Amino acid sequence: MAVLSSSYLFCLLFFFLPCLYSSASLPKALLIPITKDHSTLQYTTKIKQRTPLQPTNLVVDLGASFNWVNCEKNYQSSTYKPISCNSSLCASLKSLACSNCYEPPHPGCANNSCALFPENSVTRKSTIGDALIDAIALPTTDGSKPGPLALISDFVFSCSRTFLLKGLAKGVAGVAALGRSNFSLPAQISTSCSSPYLFALCLSGSPTAPGVAFLGTGGPYVFVPQQVDLSNSLMYTPLILNPVGDTVITYYRQPSDEYFIGVTAVKVNGKAVNLNETLLAIDDETGFGGTKISTVVPYTTMESSIYKVFTEAFISEAAALNLTLTKSVKPFDVCYPVDEVGSTRVGPAVPTVDLVMEQKEYVFWRIFGANSMVSMLGEEGEETWCLAFVDGGIGPRTSIVIGAHQMEDNLLQFDVGSKRLGFSSSLLLKQTTCSNFNFTSSYNNNR
Ligand SMILES: *[C@@H]1O[C@H](CO)[C@@H](O)[C@H](O)[C@H]1NC(C)=O
Ligand SMILES: *[C@@H]1O[C@H](CO)[C@@H](O)[C@H](O)[C@H]1NC(C)=O
Ligand SMILES: *[C@@H]1O[C@H](CO)[C@@H](O)[C@H](O)[C@H]1NC(C)=O
Ligand SMILES: *[C@@H]1O[C@H](CO)[C@@H](O)[C@H](O)[C@H]1NC(C)=O
Ligand SMILES: *[C@@H]1O[C@H](CO)[C@@H](O)[C@H](O)[C@H]1NC(C)=O
Ligand SMILES: *[C@@H]1O[C@H](CO)[C@@H](O)[C@H](O)[C@H]1NC(C)=O
Repeated sequence: MAVLSSSYLFCLLFFFLPCLYSSASLPKALLIPITKDHSTLQYTTKIKQRTPLQPTNLVVDLGASFNWVNCEKNYQSSTYKPISCNSSLCASLKSLACSNCYEPPHPGCANNSCALFPENSVTRKSTIGDALIDAIALPTTDGSKPGPLALISDFVFSCSRTFLLKGLAKGVAGVAALGRSNFSLPAQISTSCSSPYLFALCLSGSPTAPGVAFLGTGGPYVFVPQQVDLSNSLMYTPLILNPVGDTVITYYRQPSDEYFIGVTAVKVNGKAVNLNETLLAIDDETGFGGTKISTVVPYTTMESSIYKVFTEAFISEAAALNLTLTKSVKPFDVCYPVDEVGSTRVGPAVPTVDLVMEQKEYVFWRIFGANSMVSMLGEEGEETWCLAFVDGGIGPRTSIVIGAHQMEDNLLQFDVGSKRLGFSSSLLLKQTTCSNFNFTSSYNNNR
């Protein structure tokens, strides 16, 4: 360190403030941009990692336990450190394996090295990979714009191999994990920055402007054009722990790091759908049933019997609006000709869908046309609006998986510390969208 020139040191301090030691005037809230990849319908973020810092694209997985990146290609860093198998850190990681390597040491190759099982969020393939410690840097925020970068020098993640990227969006090098574990991205930010363990996710479907996640802060979450703070307009429901996890390689009865909520009824145009309520509860022995939220499932899936009664109710309510079904477009079953459907501020004029929580009539996530319908081209190139829900088959592990399309332009606050989910319903009602966070910064975070 003695050889560093004072100007270099100034740069280092100015641009890469260690999170914990950032000055009191700087909030310890961090930001990531989230971009939709329209060919895979996955959501990706860009995080600076390693030394020197390199922007790295990662698929955002709300339910994943820890970050992973490909170490086989282009992983160069002067600060990476393997984790030894007998360390307390390795014990907290609940590692199931210890690996040795018979090549010259490099990232992902060390002896007595604490190993993890990174998983492809989409294909559910897994491999063994060394756990590593290295630096990452994210922009701080006051809730309305990005500020200087904060450095987390001891970020823990897993190495992986090139083949595990197959099925993920082009140009990504791994996965950014937002799950309720002790080593997800928000968990480690909370530890390093002494901030609360909570984050807010706002997915955008916009092909031009990204959505955003706020990490380590309960607000404000400010969106243009009217500088509206969305942290003031959330409804809350408990986050439920599923006691049985569903990772490829897992301990017996390790709890799930995914986010489950207590949906107890589904309504179409305010009328409850008559569904099998047993399926909406989590079976504590098997972990089957219940409702979870996922960023890697593009459209909400429902167990077959729920899907059947739900679509029947929707078709009947839509018929009352004079909407007549047209040819379905895969993977959807319920589609309407575009010119029959009116439009509103909250998307196509179709029956509303409510997810009612915890048997409380007044706590519901209302889904309007912009989130319930998706524009599809039929076989003859005709434009249609299709009900963007998918049949999840008979006996799926989770009865309802709320998918990313239903989350777009809704702000969701995952307060892991307080075990509750805050949700805004459609931001279109508040005349903004998730792509309306002002990423224009007066700080040059691109260096
Ligand atoms: C872990 O094991 C290595 C090699 O056996 C030893 O050098 C090191 O001191 C041990 N570390 C701890 C924390 O026990
Ligand atoms: C691991 O130990 C073996 C045997 O001592 C040695 O040949 C090998 O080079 C070591 N690997 C690394 C990455 O240091
Ligand atoms: C996570 O960390 C907390 C606090 O250190 C600890 O009490 C808890 O057991 C850890 N959870 C798991 C699953 O290891
Ligand atoms: C409801 O679902 C449960 C779990 O799959 C099943 O055992 C039960 O038979 C179903 N009830 C009805 C009325 O279909
Ligand atoms: C549906 O069509 C019928 C017959 O054309 C008409 O009387 C009725 O007002 C329409 N309803 C709505 C909701 O547009
Ligand atoms: C976004 O922030 C920049 C820099 O602070 C400012 O110049 C610009 O006017 C803002 N844009 C909007 C739409 O508020």
